[in-house]
Amino acid sequence: MQANLAQLMRGTLYPESNVVFAAQDVNPADVPHAKDPSMATDPLASSYGKWQAVENNALAIAEVADLLTLAGRKCANGLDVPLKNPDWAKFVQELREAGMTAYAAAQTKNQDKMTEAADVMTAACMHCHVKYREKKPADRCK
Ligand code: HEC
Repeated sequence: MQANLAQLMRGTLYPESNVVFAAQDVNPADVPHAKDPSMATDPLASSYGKWQAVENNALAIAEVADLLTLAGRKCANGLDVPLKNPDWAKFVQELREAGMTAYAAAQTKNQDKMTEAADVMTAACMHCHVKYREKKPADRCK
């Protein structure tokens, strides 16, 4: 069984990129641990929180890029993920690089660098969405 593309986005890239985006406005070093960090639903406040959470979520985004190229996955409307379109691989690579850019920025613990990396990330999500998502549900993934 495979998640469809929308489920994969909602379950991985969406929460992961929110951790990267949050580091623009909130200094992750200042986020206190949750009352029970081992059960925290906010990665920044978890046992593996603060800047480490930003690093790990940036890496996760780069890794999820590989899941976007797996054969057999469907979009929510039943169409195949458009792996055969040459620009799909290009958009996936842009996402992978955006993940690595965010990882490098998180390692510097510099919020200005995070703002730059967040812009790169936003562009990577958007370039693919403009082509394959921002349309009527039936026309997505064509
Ligand atoms: C290579 C292409 C591609 C990239 C890169 C990409 N997406 Fe997506 N995304 C899609 C497509 C196509 C859909 C529609 C999937 C479907 O309907 O099954 C989608 C759907 C989604 C959804 C679900 C929308 C809904 O209607 O429920 C979310 C959330 C999402 N993407 C977030 C992101 C974020 C955040 C990023 C960047 C970190 C990102 N995506 C990067 C192609 C991409």
